[in-house]
Amino acid sequence: RQRDFVPALVIGSGYGSAATALRLGEAGIRTQVLEMGRLWDTAGADGKIFCSMLQPDHRSTWFQDRTEAPLSSVLWADVINRDIEPYAGVLDRVRHGDMSVYVGRGVGGGSLVNGGMAVTPQRDYFEEILPSVDAGRMYGKYFPLANRMLGVNTPDPEWLETCDSYQYARVSRGHAHDAGLHTTVVPNVYDFDYMRREEAGEVPQSALASEVIYGNNHGKRSLDRSYLPEAIGTGNVTVHALHRVRTFRQEQDGTYVVTVEQIDELGNVLGTREIGCRWLFLGAGSLGTTELLVRARDTGVLPRLGAAVGEGWGTNGNVMLGRALAEPTGQIQSGMPALGINNWRDPKYPVFAEIAPVPAGLDLLMTLYLAITRNPERGRFRYLPENDSVRLDWDIDQGAPSVEAADAVFRRINRAAGTELRNDLFGDDRAFENRFTYHPLGGCVLGEATDLHGRVRGYRNLYVTDGSLIPGSTGVNPFVTITALAERNIERVLAEDF
Ligand code: FDA
Repeated sequence: RQRDFVPALVIGSGYGSAATALRLGEAGIRTQVLEMGRLWDTAGADGKIFCSMLQPDHRSTWFQDRTEAPLSSVLWADVINRDIEPYAGVLDRVRHGDMSVYVGRGVGGGSLVNGGMAVTPQRDYFEEILPSVDAGRMYGKYFPLANRMLGVNTPDPEWLETCDSYQYARVSRGHAHDAGLHTTVVPNVYDFDYMRREEAGEVPQSALASEVIYGNNHGKRSLDRSYLPEAIGTGNVTVHALHRVRTFRQEQDGTYVVTVEQIDELGNVLGTREIGCRWLFLGAGSLGTTELLVRARDTGVLPRLGAAVGEGWGTNGNVMLGRALAEPTGQIQSGMPALGINNWRDPKYPVFAEIAPVPAGLDLLMTLYLAITRNPERGRFRYLPENDSVRLDWDIDQGAPSVEAADAVFRRINRAAGTELRNDLFGDDRAFENRFTYHPLGGCVLGEATDLHGRVRGYRNLYVTDGSLIPGSTGVNPFVTITALAERNIERVLAEDF
């Protein structure tokens, strides 16, 4: 059968894929990037590319008839989610029993929907989670490179102390200090100068117009404004949106054949075709990549894939919570967090908690946090032949260490501030939400399922290049680590395998 052939194929267009595609293109290697989500470059009827968080429409969610926001209720009332038309929207909530995983869908992957927090992990923790990676090289070369390429910046300190849009963060920081906790400014890929001009009324608003999680119309340097245009600019890289990879196999001659469905924005399958390649890079995210490999192993298509494929998955210890406050936090709250509570050095309750906004357009007298904790629990992926699906096994009890750590730290803050946790935000009366994660990590861990540079064990010219390489935890928001590791790995792969 006639099929297309391209030297290098990259599946997915998130952080790992974008960095990999750029370096392949620069090296003169013709590369195709296949992304199941759409290209977000065209305005809808309202003149905007992305919809607002306060009035979400079909653009918000990947093929559902109702939005599935992380904060699902206020005063136990179902006032946040909305009925919508099924569509190739930008945010997906992939449900696996007790755990659901939020991921971005579109050219740019998670960079389209995330809060932009760009944090380099503490070196000693990085050395602990990936001891076989040369930390000297990472901190001397690849972390600085990732920060530069992603356009990481910090807010002007004076403006941060005086602007209206971070009043919520300053109030929350004050309470942490009262409890004797350390706080830190969190770098971001959102352009803080642009945000300053938003507050001054000089430019169209995005972060200050409650935009986050369903995309930002301005200000954010997502991958479609950083790595990906540079990759395309090499003249060697093409990006194909609405192309969903179903399976792949290896031919006798060692090349790979990928089966890909082309869909439209309503989910209709327009056609299925095969694309051959010599070098195959899996960058479909922790869930996407692990699913493709587990299916390939357990259906016998790639039988030499080892037992480590599908293991070592974690939530980065994510747990969300809110506190009720007595003092005002501001009506306009920047959608991009800029301050965090850093209690990571605490040997008993290590927590790094971003102070998250409640961008409701009115002051709800509360403050929200996404806490990252050191949760040693790990999930694993299993192939289910009865419906040809791959399932993540994660039990609700595995979230308990995260809740325990967050409870200890926020109990301390509440004692100092005379405040309480909110228990009306997650659909029932729980104060801690640990049934979802924004930070899926692992499944094809570096040095276990792959060699020390992401080459999948057992198969030549097959690589993992995304968050599935990281063993379940980074201690901070993960995309800088994912990008830096991808930069490190592709440099070695280009030098040795091409
Ligand atoms: P990523 O998930 O980015 O990209 C994978 C891509 O592959 C997706 O575009 C997907 O559609 C595509 N794909 C999957 N399967 C496919 C298939 N079979 N065929 C074709 N394409 C396929 N992190 C951080 O550091 N700071 C932050 O502030 C935040 N905030 C945040 C908020 C929210 C709401 C979310 C959901 C996530 C965050 N994150 C974050 C997490 C961060 O976005 C995440 O860690 C990275 O995007 C992961 O990068 P990867 O390269 O692993 O894959």
